[in-house]
Amino acid sequence: MFPTKVKRLLQLRHTLWLCPSFKAACSRLVLGIETSCDDTGAAVMDETGKILGESLHSQKEVHLRTGGIIPTVAQQLHRENLERVVQEALERSVVAPSQLFAVATTVKPGLGLSLGIGLDFSRRFVRRHNKPFIPIHHMEAHALTVRMLQPVPFPFLVLLVSGGHSLLAVARGVDDFLLLGHSMDEAPGDTMDKVARRLSLIKHPQCSTLSGGQAIELLAKDGDRARFPFRTPMGQTYDCCFSFAGLRNQVNMAIMKKEAEEGVEQGTLLSCVQDIAAATQHTVASHLAKRTHRAIVFCKENGLLPSSNPTLVLSGGVASNQYIRKTLSIITETTGLHLVCPPAEFCTDNGVMIAWNGVERLREGKGILPPNVDVSYEPKAPLGVDMIAEVRAAAIRLPSIRIKIPN
Ligand code: KG4
Ligand code: ZN
Repeated sequence: MFPTKVKRLLQLRHTLWLCPSFKAACSRLVLGIETSCDDTGAAVMDETGKILGESLHSQKEVHLRTGGIIPTVAQQLHRENLERVVQEALERSVVAPSQLFAVATTVKPGLGLSLGIGLDFSRRFVRRHNKPFIPIHHMEAHALTVRMLQPVPFPFLVLLVSGGHSLLAVARGVDDFLLLGHSMDEAPGDTMDKVARRLSLIKHPQCSTLSGGQAIELLAKDGDRARFPFRTPMGQTYDCCFSFAGLRNQVNMAIMKKEAEEGVEQGTLLSCVQDIAAATQHTVASHLAKRTHRAIVFCKENGLLPSSNPTLVLSGGVASNQYIRKTLSIITETTGLHLVCPPAEFCTDNGVMIAWNGVERLREGKGILPPNVDVSYEPKAPLGVDMIAEVRAAAIRLPSIRIKIPN
């Protein structure tokens, strides 16, 4: 039997361990801050990747009403909400600023006005509390979020599709990426948002609070895509880049034609919105699938992925689309890759993904800066080493794969 004194000490240790602030003191804690676009997010995470507390303020409804993101409006909303969001994340974690080890904040790429709010706040915060600062690349954070949830060893192929980006890259390390392709014009989420706006889906009773991409996914379930056979973009370009502006043009033409046929003004909900949604979604999905297929073949030919259990990670806001996930799964099944998608709440922007990127960097001691260092935000910031010319030079022709998915 333990002497009473030892027993008391063990009891005290047990009580302390249950206390969140004691737990916090045992692990290096990172506060993650995200303001690169239209979400104000903060989260506190321990070094094992456990989320201790988080808070997220979405500007989606405001931007839906104004018909798109107005940078000055986004900036003002970040300014109004960031302090409260950070405070909430800390309170929910039961962690005081003094208990944090470091602050990780998105500094690139994104809307300059939005990034500036997060960076200014973080700069003041780390100076006041004398904490190291970890600047974060938003797309690196999207690419690596999946590793918070399950072990996905480097290297892996990643397709990131959101409202601001579409890119294909090989992730070889926490700060080591090879860029295989990116969008030549707009991002798929942006295209779907614009198509949804052109279709006035906000007036649809089921879609009034949904983002454009979500509205298109919902309506597409009951649509017949064959009624609008849109051309898949860049059929004659044998690289891994994307283009969505031409598709949006095709969709706009089809909408104008339908409006003329039905004798209705722009802004009226057309009877065929479900079919247009289904056709748009299918064309976006098949464009993403074809470019990804080529990227997989390129990686195989150049030994860029492991021969055992090669993985494709699909993430970013558009990756929450189930039809797109299924389409990509046809490609991975055919090519022998393993497809991994984080759940929808980790595909979209939040403070958690930034905190996780901070944790990954902390573990490797990469990019951790002293509190007084001067960091600037960068609205445009390429991801990794640009391999687009090499991919284009390889000009890989693909065997055709039949993409047939029930809606
Ligand atoms: O990653 P995210 O939250 O923000 C950035 O753009 O960085 O992605 C938002 C985008 C929006 O364009 C939205 O329409 C799109 O993701 N999105 C979707 C779906 N959910 C969100 N697109 C297609 N299907 C969805 N279910
Ligand atoms: Zn994002």
